[in-house]
Amino acid sequence: MLLEVKNLTIPTFDQKCVIVNDVSFDVREGSIHAIIGPNGSGKSTLAYSIMGLSNYKPFQGKIYFDGIDITDMSITERSKMGITLAWQEPARIEGLSVKKYVSLGIKDKSNLGEKVTEALEIVNLPSKKYVNRYIDNSLSGGERKRIELAAVVAMKPRLIILDEPDSGLDVIITEDFMNIFNKIKKLNMTILLITHREEIGMVADYGTLIWHGDVLITDLFPYVMLRYCKKAGLKEFCKRTLYKEGKPCFPEDYIDRIFNEEEPFE
Ligand SMILES: Nc1ncnc2c1ncn2[C@@H]1O[C@H](COP(=O)(O)OP(=O)(O)OP(=O)(O)O)[C@@H](O)[C@H]1O
Ligand SMILES: [Mg+2]
Repeated sequence: MLLEVKNLTIPTFDQKCVIVNDVSFDVREGSIHAIIGPNGSGKSTLAYSIMGLSNYKPFQGKIYFDGIDITDMSITERSKMGITLAWQEPARIEGLSVKKYVSLGIKDKSNLGEKVTEALEIVNLPSKKYVNRYIDNSLSGGERKRIELAAVVAMKPRLIILDEPDSGLDVIITEDFMNIFNKIKKLNMTILLITHREEIGMVADYGTLIWHGDVLITDLFPYVMLRYCKKAGLKEFCKRTLYKEGKPCFPEDYIDRIFNEEEPFE
């Protein structure tokens, strides 16, 4: 396992209550693993804690990366080990050229141009068109989001934690995501995709459902989605969304049966 989260409990800033409660799940190397759950369920808190942000220290539990206990490691140590959180403060990157920005995290500066081109092409942006542009308001939200992702990919981390920000990602359509993520996967990077746009999770191999700070299930993604839909009462959404490669994941009458059963999972 690349990442193992064991019995993690994360309190609020003021330590007065618990946001993430005794959460455990594993992420396999080379997979896309989605964390889904309603607003406020603790997804971002979990992401920040895995990255090691100082205000998100767990008071119980362990995080292992590649078998090594990283629970007490700093954010810098974690990033040296290959963990990245794709989350940027726009102000910090404003005004840099796309080339400069994407190359920031590339350690070996030889053939820099090629490396930047490769990273931009992974996120489906033609390098020629973008490399000399500047990061400012002339870029659309979706272009900006892709460029941020290109900068992360260029660093060649082992684990990319992608916490979907409020805006930006929603302008990239699901099929395009699938294509981008599959290219990242081929480069043997693992993606932990955090989203409340559950349909985006359909690109994932595995998933974890978090509900008010508790993990309800970790499994192949379609099962996680089915559980989510049942819990949220989203039958039609479930039928519409649970497709992989154009085929429904479950027969319709199976979904009907799950929804008709009283608390079939609990
Ligand atoms: N000091 C505090 N006191 C009480 N609750 C808090 C405090 N700080 C944070 N919270 C709660 O903890 C939760 C944090 O959730 P988090 O941001 O991790 O959710 P999320 O799953 O990422 O949600 P979203 O889908 O909206 O991004 C929220 O419900 C928030 O209201
Ligand atoms: Mg969040």
